[in-house]
Amino acid sequence: MRVLGIETSCDETGIALYDSQAGLLAHQLFSQVELHACYGGVVPELASRDHVKRIIPLIDNVLKEAQLQTTDLDGIAYTAGPGLIGALLVGASVARSMAWALNIPAVGVHHLEGHLLASMLEQPAPQFPFLVLLVSGGHSQLIHARALGDYEILGETIDDAAGEAFDKTAKLLGLGYPGGAALARLAQQGREGAFYFPRPMTTVKNGQAVGLTFSFSGLKTQVLTTWRKSAQDEQTKADIARAFEEAIIDTLAIKCRLALQQTGLTQLVIAGGVGANVRLRQQLSELGVQLGVQVYYPRPLFCTDNGAMIAYAGCQRLLAKQSEPLSFNARARWNIAELRV
Ligand code: KG4
Ligand code: ZN
Repeated sequence: MRVLGIETSCDETGIALYDSQAGLLAHQLFSQVELHACYGGVVPELASRDHVKRIIPLIDNVLKEAQLQTTDLDGIAYTAGPGLIGALLVGASVARSMAWALNIPAVGVHHLEGHLLASMLEQPAPQFPFLVLLVSGGHSQLIHARALGDYEILGETIDDAAGEAFDKTAKLLGLGYPGGAALARLAQQGREGAFYFPRPMTTVKNGQAVGLTFSFSGLKTQVLTTWRKSAQDEQTKADIARAFEEAIIDTLAIKCRLALQQTGLTQLVIAGGVGANVRLRQQLSELGVQLGVQVYYPRPLFCTDNGAMIAYAGCQRLLAKQSEPLSFNARARWNIAELRV
């Protein structure tokens, strides 16, 4: 089965073609980062309008890259939520119209299910059941993934998501928007032990966290206070970036250890934009070795928003015979634990 995937939930237009036999055939991405940078965040209406401009040329490019025609498609998958409603509706309406014209099925995919399954595009791929650390710009969750569409949220953030904490901290250190990756790059110049920030919500007892709830909003305030009191030179900025990154990554690793011990799961899957973070990947790989747990993560390009994960997730749902009526909807908010097959 050949499925076209369309991702337009936020500020990236991602298009891909996935074949259930041959794997990923082509993928392309247009990032709107430059469009929104001067506003210090994503402007929803500008995002929707840019998706309208990019989506058809990108679909043409992907088909050309795979040397296929629209008539070679067996289905179309699009992100139906959560995300910016206007941006979602661009992808949904293009997907639905194409599917109607081609007389093939279309399926709305949950954006986080896309992230959660992205590791399955890599080799070796994880097998259900597994634990997922889903860390993106809008979500930080630990999920027990039992099967396609059977996801239990074990813990999540009560305030900022991990990516949001990276972005807000980067902004207050003057690193622009979205600054998560820039902050991580700067942290590499930071000196070990120059600063220390607490690991929030980890009342550590014998190296064990208590509870699987995250809270990252306090960290940025501590960074701001520390920065204001400091010499405010470039080395200090890098030192603070390093201490901040260590605090976030340590916290995520502490919670992953606890969730693995509580569930007894033997596979850990990292998903979402923060999954591209090198320190996170290293630290969780080391944790995996210590606990005898296999750790999986997608290539960095498939950690952040992309069309390939939507094409893959949609293909799995179409193979599971999920069908939808011709009318469609998109959802700005959508809990992944509500999903079924
Ligand atoms: O999954 P994603 O592309 O979008 C959402 O669904 O939210 O995640 C984007 C987030 C942003 O907050 C971005 O700053 C963060 O992922 N991010 C990183 C890195 N690369 C992207 N955070 C830390 N280190 C990175 N290398
Ligand atoms: Zn995302």
